[in-house]
Amino acid sequence: MDVGVALEAPLSGALIDMREEETANEQQAGSEGVGRRKFLGYAWKGLAVGLAVEAGWTTYDILNPQPSGAFGGIVTAGTVSDYPAGTVKYFQDGRFYVVSADGALVALYQKCPHLGCRVPFCESSGRFECPCHGSIYNIRGEYIQGPAPRGMDRFPLKIDGDRVLVDTASVVEGPPHGVSSVSSEAKGPSCIVQKGGSKGAGG
Ligand code: FES
Repeated sequence: MDVGVALEAPLSGALIDMREEETANEQQAGSEGVGRRKFLGYAWKGLAVGLAVEAGWTTYDILNPQPSGAFGGIVTAGTVSDYPAGTVKYFQDGRFYVVSADGALVALYQKCPHLGCRVPFCESSGRFECPCHGSIYNIRGEYIQGPAPRGMDRFPLKIDGDRVLVDTASVVEGPPHGVSSVSSEAKGPSCIVQKGGSKGAGG
């Protein structure tokens, strides 16, 4: 009979140990589960913050385009102080002129609205004169004479602090015939007559 007692005691101890071990395992599994959930929570929050920052930068880039310096983008055309009244500056890479006339800056596309020749500014007459078919425009690119259907096309121009920025991505159609906000009188000889009508580059 002593044998039964002797066998029972260790079995009960073993069951208690196993329960304790199971409890410990459950607690460990539970704490690991909590840890995993916390980790995933942090990961999702990090991802959400990253996406929010990225979206913020994208919006900032759209609202504040950076000057590229070349045709097709935003071109920096110097500073406001570079343009005293009557100034005409040519930007070959941007394919435009910036003129200061009648108290405002205007960016004129170099391409003639007739058939696309490059229209040079004639210093002696103070007007834009197309050498291809003789269209003439005043200093603000407004139509004076010739076969062109309207004044010279232009680009949006913005003053950012002191910088002059020209957006060459969007062409604004020139004013129709009859618009003349500044004098269209030639101040001297025409360049077309002097050069015998040689053709300018397109674009
Ligand atoms: S292309 Fe300039 S007048 Fe024809």
